[in-house]
Amino acid sequence: MKNKILNILINNENKYVSGESIANELNVSRVSISKNIKTLRNEGYDILSKQNKGYMLINENDYLSDQYIKDNTDSFYKNITVLDSTSSTNADIKERASSLPEGSVLISNNQLGGKGRNGRPFYCEKNKGIYMSVLIKPDIPLDLSLLITACAGVSIVEAIKDVYGIETGIKWVNDIYYKNKKLAGILCEAGIELQSMSLEYMVVGIGINVHHINNSQFTNGIASSIEDFTDTFRHRNDLIVSVLNHFHYNYKNIYNDSLIEKYKKYSIVLHKNITVYEKNNTYNAYVEDIDNLANLIIRKEDGASVTLSGNEISIRL
Ligand code: BTN
Repeated sequence: MKNKILNILINNENKYVSGESIANELNVSRVSISKNIKTLRNEGYDILSKQNKGYMLINENDYLSDQYIKDNTDSFYKNITVLDSTSSTNADIKERASSLPEGSVLISNNQLGGKGRNGRPFYCEKNKGIYMSVLIKPDIPLDLSLLITACAGVSIVEAIKDVYGIETGIKWVNDIYYKNKKLAGILCEAGIELQSMSLEYMVVGIGINVHHINNSQFTNGIASSIEDFTDTFRHRNDLIVSVLNHFHYNYKNIYNDSLIEKYKKYSIVLHKNITVYEKNNTYNAYVEDIDNLANLIIRKEDGASVTLSGNEISIRL
C-alpha cells in the first residue's frame, strides 16, 4: 500500500493530490492513506500536507547547479560556486574578499554556523533554503552602504514575486516578510579601508527559506518558508537566478530614485507604529518616511524626529 501511494505521489511530483482521490484509486480508507503517509515521512520522503488540498511529494532532486546559474545570469557574476556544506558563506567570502573579483558568488546547500544580524544565528537546513553570499566592491561612500541592503531587499521581493507570484514586504532594514512571517534575511558585512575610511568590499549575505521545514526550532519562531504559502514547487536554482539578476539591475541603479521608491513601496513599516530597541533604551514611534539613503525617519511620542540607520525595530499592531 505504502509503495502504491508513493507511486501516485511520484507521478504527481510537486503537485497536490487529494487524500480522497488516492483513497478512491486504491480503494482504501483515508485513515489508511494518512497512516502510510506518516510511514513514508519517517522513511525520509518529504511530503507536504495541506487542508483541502491533500498531499504533495517534494521533488528530491532540487539540486543546486552552478552551471545553470552561470548560464542564466549576466557576466557581472563570476566564480559562482556551490558547496555542499560550510559554516557560513559570508565568513568564507570575507576571508578571500581581497583576492576575489566583484560579482563572486558563493552558495551552499547547508550552513552549520549561519549568521544573522546582531550576532544571532540564522537557522539553516540542508537543501531547504538558499544560503548565498555575493561579493561586491562598490565605489560608494560608507554612509551609503545601507543602500546595498535595500538593493538586496528589493531584489528578493521582486524575485519571489516573479518566481512564485506572491507579494512579500520588507521589514526595515533587512527582513522579508509575508503574512507576519519572516521568509528571508539579509546580512551585509563590509570591509573597510581604515586609512581612507572607504569601503573596500561588501559581502551581501542572503538567506531565503524556500522549502517547508519541519523542525520546531524553526517553526516556533517568526520564521516560515515560501512553500508554506504557495502550492507551487520551484527549483531553488530559478529563485537564485532571479535574485541575482534583480540584484545586479538594482545595484547598477543604486543612485536612481526608483530604487528607494520601490523600497518604500515594499516597506511594511512605513506609516506604521513601531517600537525601537536601542542598547539601553526602548521606545515607541511612528514611521514618517524612508530617506534617500534608506534611513528610517521616525517621530517619537514626545514629538521629536529621529533618523535611524540600523536599529532593531518591531511593528506594533
Ligand atoms: C538575518 O536574518 O538577520 C540575516 C540572515 C542572513 C543569512 C545569510 S545565509 C547566507 C549568508 N551567510 C551567513 O552566515 N548569513 C548570511
